[in-house]
Amino acid sequence: MCGIIGFTGKLKAQDVLLTGLASLEYRGYDSAGIAYFKDTGKISLRKTVGKVKDLRAICDDDNNSTCGIGHTRWATHGGVTNANAHPHKVGQVALIHNGIIENYHDLATKYDLTDELISETDTEVAAALINKLYEGDPKEALRKAVAEIEGSFAFCVLFKDHPGEIYAVRNVSPMVATYCDDGAFIASDLTAFIAYNKRYFIVPEYHILTMTADGITLEDLDGHSVEPEYMEVNWDVTAAQKDGYPHFMIKEIHEQPAAITRTITPRIKDMLPDFSEDAIADSFFENVSDITIVACGTAMYAGMVGKTMIQNRLHIPVTVAIASEFRYEEPVINEKSMVIVVSQSGETIDTLEALRLANKYTKKTLSIVNVKGSSIARESSYVLYTHAGPEIAVASTKAYTVQVASFYLLACKLAMTQQKISVEEARTFVGTLQEIPNYIEEVLAQAPDIEQLTKRMINANNAFFIGRGLDYTLCMEGALKLKEISYIHAEAYAAGELKHGTIALVSEGVPVIAAATQKHVYSKVISNIREVKARGAYVILLSKDKEITDPSICDVHINLPDVSDEFTIFESVVIFQLIAYYTSVGKGLNPDQPRNLAKSVTVE
Ligand code: F6R
Repeated sequence: MCGIIGFTGKLKAQDVLLTGLASLEYRGYDSAGIAYFKDTGKISLRKTVGKVKDLRAICDDDNNSTCGIGHTRWATHGGVTNANAHPHKVGQVALIHNGIIENYHDLATKYDLTDELISETDTEVAAALINKLYEGDPKEALRKAVAEIEGSFAFCVLFKDHPGEIYAVRNVSPMVATYCDDGAFIASDLTAFIAYNKRYFIVPEYHILTMTADGITLEDLDGHSVEPEYMEVNWDVTAAQKDGYPHFMIKEIHEQPAAITRTITPRIKDMLPDFSEDAIADSFFENVSDITIVACGTAMYAGMVGKTMIQNRLHIPVTVAIASEFRYEEPVINEKSMVIVVSQSGETIDTLEALRLANKYTKKTLSIVNVKGSSIARESSYVLYTHAGPEIAVASTKAYTVQVASFYLLACKLAMTQQKISVEEARTFVGTLQEIPNYIEEVLAQAPDIEQLTKRMINANNAFFIGRGLDYTLCMEGALKLKEISYIHAEAYAAGELKHGTIALVSEGVPVIAAATQKHVYSKVISNIREVKARGAYVILLSKDKEITDPSICDVHINLPDVSDEFTIFESVVIFQLIAYYTSVGKGLNPDQPRNLAKSVTVE
């Protein structure tokens, strides 16, 4: 949801900003802009509808400014126009913003700002407000402004009479910063400046950061100075580059075996799950009356797999809740309830608010998060970091499989702690999980075949994913992947449910992607497949059969490596990801930047 960056130091700001914005583009790509100090002390603006490459085209090659701010937009208030693009300049102030200012209308009226506004954005109201409150002291103006503003925000602000300086403040919306020999950097995400420094700190909420070429100072709203808490990432800039792949998505699909190994290995000791490195005491897994898993989108679908894995072993109620619903409901949680929140970014606003609500009822909150130090990680009682590395493509792939792998370890740990499985069984389970990366490699080798079969999908308007049990939970993820990057309307159905209405939509040539990997319901799914085939569907069947004895039941059969039923979803999901990816590419779309979407949903 909008990417922001600021730099002041020894380098050419325009280069730093444009390169940084390109790596933040996954957060929004409707329009982009930069503002920088010129030698004369004036602030110049360049902004345009379109992508960072369009912004680059209108920037000057000989721009030597060493201080500026940049923004890539995902529109919330106001259409996609040049006027609505950031930065917004009002009087002494140029400002970029990520978030939503909820009371912008009231502020515009209260402070009589309307005549100064030329855009339809909430952001320009913030710029006008700060300008109105500005009497020569930037920090004082920001202090007064944030006392008035309701909503989420990450602001970077230039004040015309303070050349070379950037001021920043945030609430909820993420912002990280660093200082090194090259100068001071700030951004929504450290991928924007990791090429310069692997050390960074999270700008604390409601603290004012002052950046100059000589250093960074941080203070709370009472003016007390605060020491930034630096952290270091264990990946470098190459992890956030395409590395020869045409898109980030396909690169990330291929990274899954390594990502799973990185995530599970530190949590396996003596072939058993062990969370001591996460500082999660065994007592956390004891005395659990019920579990609620809360997340959004793909992370929620990972949670659904987690639910099945845990519930089947523990025989206690496990519920999966959509975070945007959960946060406004009366939760049925007590102090013995465990709440697991799942988030790649660790910043999804609904998931964060759901966690805050859960924290009021139980101390047993655990987050499964990819981004170190993110808000969700910090606010949960315990955190289990997945080690997927940076996920840049908007459609989540490797983050999903590492979340699922984490649930497998958690399910095993819970079951052992509560004596629902023997040590021997747990070791066999963990052993199979360790083998999964090899099976995924085998599946990835089928990529050229998958590319071929998607030629048949390109012209489809609708597609259905069907399966039962674990296959059904997986189908939900498969359908989401296909619709978000290929714009084909796709739905997942429990195969047995088709007859209750949906089969009316199955007509000649409609693609039906069926997963039949679960032995106990295999013959049932095959019967459901016959039903859709009889109505002319184009059936792609995923199963562990070496060969299909009756080839008339499907048009394409994808053979999955033979692994025990509970683990096939790791293989099937990779096939689903490849189907979505190649369909999108075959349609001439950019799978990394699907329309209307942004990676990190930090606004409601
Ligand atoms: C879909 C996708 C989204 C995210 C969802 C939650 O491919 O990526 O559905 O899974 O927006 O995001 P996180 O995991 O960052 O909380």
